[in-house]
Amino acid sequence: MRALISDIHGNLEALQAVLADIESKGIKEIFCLGDVVGYGPNPAECIDLVMDLDMCLLGNHDSAALFDPEGFNAGAERAIFWTRSVLERGTGSKAERRWDFLGELSRRYRDEASRTIFVHGSARNPLNEYVFPDDIYNQVKMEKIFALIERYCFQGHTHIPGVFTESLEFFSPEEIGFRYQLDHQKVMINVGSVGQPRNNDPRSSYVTVDGNEVQFHRVSYDMEKTIEKIYAIPELDNFLGDRLREGR
Ligand SMILES: [Fe+2]
Repeated sequence: MRALISDIHGNLEALQAVLADIESKGIKEIFCLGDVVGYGPNPAECIDLVMDLDMCLLGNHDSAALFDPEGFNAGAERAIFWTRSVLERGTGSKAERRWDFLGELSRRYRDEASRTIFVHGSARNPLNEYVFPDDIYNQVKMEKIFALIERYCFQGHTHIPGVFTESLEFFSPEEIGFRYQLDHQKVMINVGSVGQPRNNDPRSSYVTVDGNEVQFHRVSYDMEKTIEKIYAIPELDNFLGDRLREGR
C-alpha cells in the first residue's frame, strides 16, 4: 500500500495531520507529487518532513523558489520571494540540505512494475501544465496527454482531486464514493492538495493505492493555527489564509 500526497504549500498543520492519518493506516511508503513550498507559512519545516518520504517530485512553486518565478500572480510571487528568504535565512547544514533537496528533485517518476507515472502537472509538461476537470471538453489536449501515458498517471497541481478517464470523463471523489478501481483503461488521477484544497472542501486531500484499488481521503486539520501564522506574515496575503477556510 502506498500513499500519494501533493501540494503541501508550506502548510505544516495540514502536512502533520495527513502524515498522522497515513501512519494510522499502517502505510509505510509515501510519495509526494511536488509543491512542498509556496503560499504557506512553514516552508522549511515542511521540507524537513518531506525529506524523509520515499519519493518527492519538483513542483512549479518549488522550482520558482529555487530559480525564478514565472507566470505567478502578484500574491503568489510575493509568497515565493518570502519563501526563498526564509530558506536563505536558515544557517548550517540543515539549511544547506534543504536547498540541495529541492535542487535534486526530479520532474517525473516511473514505477516499472505498475507501469505508472507520477508528475506534478501533466505527463506532457510535468512541471507546469494544468489538467482541470473542464479539460474533458478539450479532446485534442487530453488525447495528446493520454498518448504519453502507458497505463496510469498520478498528478497534482490543480488542487482538485478526481479521476480522468481516456473516454474523456471526469469523476470527483464524491461521485465515485471515494474509490476507483484501476483496470485496462488509461487514467489520470489527481490526488488533490494537502495544504490548499480548492474543491470547496477545506480538508486536506490525499490518495492511497492498494493494488488496483485507489482511495481518496480527506483529513481535517487545525487550519485556524495556519491562518493565524499567515496573517502574522506581511509578505503573505491574508487571502492565502482566508481561502483555506473555504477550500478554494
Ligand atoms: Fe500547487
